[in-house]
Amino acid sequence: MTTRQLIMANWKMNGVQAMRAAAQQVADNTAPDGAEVVICPPATLVTDIARDLAGAPVAVGGQDCHAAEAGPHTGDVSAAMLADAGAQYVILGHSELRSQGVRSDAVRQSAAAAIHAGLTAVVCVGETAEQHDEGWHQNRVRGQLYISLPNLTAFDPNRLVIAYEPIWAIGTGKTPTGEDIRAMHAAIRTTVIDLFGPAAAGVRILYGGSVKPGNAGDILALDGVDGALVGGASLDPADFLAIAGFGRGAQP
Ligand code: PGA
Repeated sequence: MTTRQLIMANWKMNGVQAMRAAAQQVADNTAPDGAEVVICPPATLVTDIARDLAGAPVAVGGQDCHAAEAGPHTGDVSAAMLADAGAQYVILGHSELRSQGVRSDAVRQSAAAAIHAGLTAVVCVGETAEQHDEGWHQNRVRGQLYISLPNLTAFDPNRLVIAYEPIWAIGTGKTPTGEDIRAMHAAIRTTVIDLFGPAAAGVRILYGGSVKPGNAGDILALDGVDGALVGGASLDPADFLAIAGFGRGAQP
């Protein structure tokens, strides 16, 4: 089985109404039989972009959600709200949120809420430069996965995505070696199969951290890499389309 690759844009805290044109440009130039493409704009644009892209081969996602469905949580959005706004995905546990105190057990609860609301949860994990240099990275990521992934009774591999994002590679222009990425993705695969059984062979494991048009071809060709989570380069539609163009579509 060859997995259809998933290429996700994480716009982070970038994008006002004018950026709707960039999303439209991505949608207009995305082939339905290529890699699956998802744009995660800031929450303020999810509704508009989901409407703009209705019927296009590009889905929309949020960048975080609260574990509760509604209630006194000033500043947060729930998974149900994202789904209601037209999102199909939500990024959870991004290192920029973990660095502000979001812990793996909160990520697990948000992931459970996201799946319950009908979204696909994209759970981010990754090590610091120090952990990497000390050879701790695989243990670190395994530990994060054990706490961050929800206990699912009816496991659907399409509802869960793991994004491996080494913290030291995010926004820095640095990337791990191909062998490091391959080995980490294999370790993540073993861990999700441990947790969810053989069906977890279908969970997509993305690489994220300084993916650019110049390195996307090599990264997406690595064994066990099922797609990419793209930050900085996703803000330029031409760059993002170039990256998505390296993604593999569905194959028989
Ligand atoms: P970057 O960000 O592509 O700018 O390194 C990736 C991410 O944080 O998801």
